[in-house]
Amino acid sequence: MELVKLTEAHIPQMVELEKICFSMPWTADMIRSELNNPSCLYLAAVDGDTLVGYIGVQTVLDEGYINNVAVRPEYRRRGIAAALISLLTEQAQAIGLAFMTLEVRESNAPAIALYEKLGFTTVGRRKNYYEKPREDAILMTIFFTKE
Ligand SMILES: CC(C)(COP(=O)(O)OP(=O)(O)OC[C@H]1O[C@@H](n2cnc3c(N)ncnc32)[C@H](O)[C@@H]1OP(=O)(O)O)[C@@H](O)C(=O)NCCC(=O)NCCS
Repeated sequence: MELVKLTEAHIPQMVELEKICFSMPWTADMIRSELNNPSCLYLAAVDGDTLVGYIGVQTVLDEGYINNVAVRPEYRRRGIAAALISLLTEQAQAIGLAFMTLEVRESNAPAIALYEKLGFTTVGRRKNYYEKPREDAILMTIFFTKE
């Protein structure tokens, strides 16, 4: 298992994983435009040629907005998402971000447990944020203190 920068070569597998993981998956075009956006940083977990997980953040000034986190079902509970978030956290601090934040479905207990374990705290809720099914989003943020 290796953590690398996500590149265009990973797009077909990322599209497949999006479809497996989300009810409103991102398309190849959406992913390509993220990868070409200089304010976005995407990391991939790979096992040989297989993309097994990814995470992406968009930065605005010193703020980081995490867009997607996903791990292939057969590779879950092996610490891959935690490793991706930890590396992203290191890189976010290195470039001087003040915080990283994300939305998560309120029913997504595995993801909420993951984020809490890694230091994210609940800072708010967006009513009926999601569709398919309609559901509130919980907002979770990790704050970085400057040394
Ligand atoms: C959420 C997701 C990314 C977690 O990936 P993962 O690689 O399995 O997570 P990790 O193995 O790194 O888990 C780290 C910690 O998170 C928590 N966690 C992860 N999955 C969990 C589950 N199913 N139930 C309870 N806690 C869970 C645990 O605290 C775990 O530590 P532990 O295994 O030592 O108990 C994965 O389940 C996934 O891709 N889900 C579908 C997509 C999704 O919901 N993404 C998040 C959108 S906001």
